[in-house]
Amino acid sequence: MRIGIAREIKPQEYRVALTPAGALELVQRGHDVVVESGAGAGSQFTDEAYAATGARIGSVDEVWESAELLLKVKEPIASEYPRLRSGMVLFTYLHIAADEPLTRALVESGITAVAYETVETDDRRLPLLAPMSEVAGRLAAQAGAHYLEKPKGGRGLLLGGVAGVAPGKVVVIGGGIVGYNAAVIALGLGAQVTILERSVDRMRHLEETLHGRVSLVMSSTLQIAESVTEADVVIGAVLIPGALAPKLLTREMVKGMKEGSVFCDVAIDQGGCAETSHATTHDDPVYEVDGVIHYCVANMPGAVPITSTKALTNVTLPYVEAIADFGLGAAVARDRALAGGVNVIDGRITYEAVAEAHRLEYTPLDDVLGVSAV
Ligand SMILES: NC(=O)c1ccc[n+]([C@@H]2O[C@H](COP(=O)([O-])OP(=O)(O)OC[C@H]3O[C@@H](n4cnc5c(N)ncnc54)[C@H](O)[C@@H]3O)[C@@H](O)[C@H]2O)c1
Repeated sequence: MRIGIAREIKPQEYRVALTPAGALELVQRGHDVVVESGAGAGSQFTDEAYAATGARIGSVDEVWESAELLLKVKEPIASEYPRLRSGMVLFTYLHIAADEPLTRALVESGITAVAYETVETDDRRLPLLAPMSEVAGRLAAQAGAHYLEKPKGGRGLLLGGVAGVAPGKVVVIGGGIVGYNAAVIALGLGAQVTILERSVDRMRHLEETLHGRVSLVMSSTLQIAESVTEADVVIGAVLIPGALAPKLLTREMVKGMKEGSVFCDVAIDQGGCAETSHATTHDDPVYEVDGVIHYCVANMPGAVPITSTKALTNVTLPYVEAIADFGLGAAVARDRALAGGVNVIDGRITYEAVAEAHRLEYTPLDDVLGVSAV
């Protein structure tokens, strides 16, 4: 199969959808890989590194016009819509339930669009979202430590303390993938860590994996209010699948936090879990409300593209290989998780939540593939 790797042109996006290591795997399986010139530059992968694997370097037109399978990281932006066409499978983060113009562009083009974020295993895990949560969780603890420093506007506290001086307190709200990874790094820095969770099963799991080194507490409005007044760093890491983040931290609670403490709202990409949160960018990541530094960057993994690119491609490559080796229809028939990723095919919307979000017609994937299996 001819596989194209497009250069990301969305502002502030430095990741690329395939590493040279991934390109070599695909070339060795007999596929024709065409990488847009400069596509890997933001993640420190040169054209020469791709060429050395047997991949070809091509222009933007060549990649988009010749690819049967096009790999990207972010959704196409408006200037890329004219490049969408039937006969091509696009595999990328799409998030189209919140993007009607893109949904319509995909439907009208006749392209097949497979979204990383809706690939879902039988046990309801989202394997192509998980690595970005790992990165964001780890970064959140680092950001907390960084903004606690006095010159950054923080309290002037070393999170880990030193011998004879108590460490800082980190409160993580939500003990999922982000929360676990934030806790691991905060513990590594020497902080005293509390995780507030709602799922007892999840807390049992965290108790075991973190060897009792964190306090695990049932999350409730009262408990959150109490915990955040004691905290030097609060990390918002909740998720209610398919819904906006609940506003667990009220304006009053933020007012009750210590002057110069740091609130890192990782859940900002779902609207944020505090009444005082609004999205920020890497160019201007923080703002202050009632003396509390708010760090609310909506695409945290973008700050560390080398790590994020490798973490993302580690998990996407097996699906890319399956689509390339078998064709989309057969790959989907063999793997229901991948089937969950198919959002649009042959002008029809095959992901129910997307159709519902835009009040457009939904067609079950099996109905479409029954007609036009690849
Ligand atoms: N800002 C970024 O760059 C970035 C990057 C990756 C993920 N995220 C976001 O981070 C958030 C967390 O993602 P995740 O992968 O860890 O999700 P996850 O599903 O693994 O974990 C969410 C956890 O929140 C818990 N929870 C739900 N309601 C709660 C409540 N009221 N109190 C305490 N805990 C509660 C759930 O039980 C679950 O364990 C999501 O909103 C995700 O979109 C943001």
